[in-house]
Amino acid sequence: KPITVIGVPMDLGAGRRGVDMGPSAIRYAMLKEKLVQLGFEVEDVGNLHVPTPEAYQVVDPKLKYLEEIASVCETLGKTVSEAVERGRFPLVLGGDHSIAIGTIAGAAKHRERLGLIWFDAHGDLNTGETTPSGNIHGMPLAVSLGYGHPALVNCLGFTPKVLPENVVLIGIRDLDEGERNLIRQLGIRVFTMHDIDRMGMGAVMEEALSIVTRGTDGVHLSLDLDGLDPKDAPGVGTPVEGGLTYRESHLAMEMLAEANVLTSAEFVEVNPILDNGNRTAKVAVALIESAFGKQVL
Ligand code: ARG
Ligand code: MN
Ligand code: MN
Ligand code: MN
Repeated sequence: KPITVIGVPMDLGAGRRGVDMGPSAIRYAMLKEKLVQLGFEVEDVGNLHVPTPEAYQVVDPKLKYLEEIASVCETLGKTVSEAVERGRFPLVLGGDHSIAIGTIAGAAKHRERLGLIWFDAHGDLNTGETTPSGNIHGMPLAVSLGYGHPALVNCLGFTPKVLPENVVLIGIRDLDEGERNLIRQLGIRVFTMHDIDRMGMGAVMEEALSIVTRGTDGVHLSLDLDGLDPKDAPGVGTPVEGGLTYRESHLAMEMLAEANVLTSAEFVEVNPILDNGNRTAKVAVALIESAFGKQVL
């Protein structure tokens, strides 16, 4: 299937600056060349326009840059949706994780029921009521499930985008109180680092795949690079110790490719300013290759 790359240089949703350079960093790590080597036809539509925080003011400290983020997500949703209509696989490069609101809206528009794999250290299940930071990158999963500010929840004019029974979280090790409550209330399957240590990534992915494919007609992967251990992916704004290894993450991507169920994907939170020689973007590209079927033999 032909791939459409969409860059979203967004950092309004994060507390630290620099993730706006993520899409460039990932392109410099030879994304397009590697996908072409795997046999894909690749079109890169460039970056969406994202306002810079210097030009705007925080209106609500519990939902920083709400209007600007909502507007970028609306455009992103349309861009993703157009790519799907043209029969292409949308591959979105972040940017902070708030962009998932738009990507998932665009992906869900064309599906009866979308399965969602949320690969992250964090739950991103806060709302304006529960957020400890006011940063919208801590909210996109709640928003996609229909919880949060209407300006975000109603992206592309429908809600919810996904149902709790078709969502899995993988790599989780930092949740806020409100996020724990929402997980319990909705009964979402969360594979914490503890679960991954106990079960092994192979068994985790088998169960995860069965959840996201049950009754669905598409699967989106939202991969936050901070799901990996900071030793393997140091260039992220909110690193948390004790994360997934390089190999565990690759196994997850390889099993996704083998299952051949992905219909859209995004790779977010690469922050080259905090990185070590573009290491994190290179890891992102290696994971993308695995997700698109790269094998050793
Ligand atoms: N839970 C924290 C918050 O709400 C951190 C969120 C980090 N999210 C991310 N996409 N890196 O602010
Ligand atoms: Mn995260
Ligand atoms: Mn926290
Ligand atoms: Mn995240």
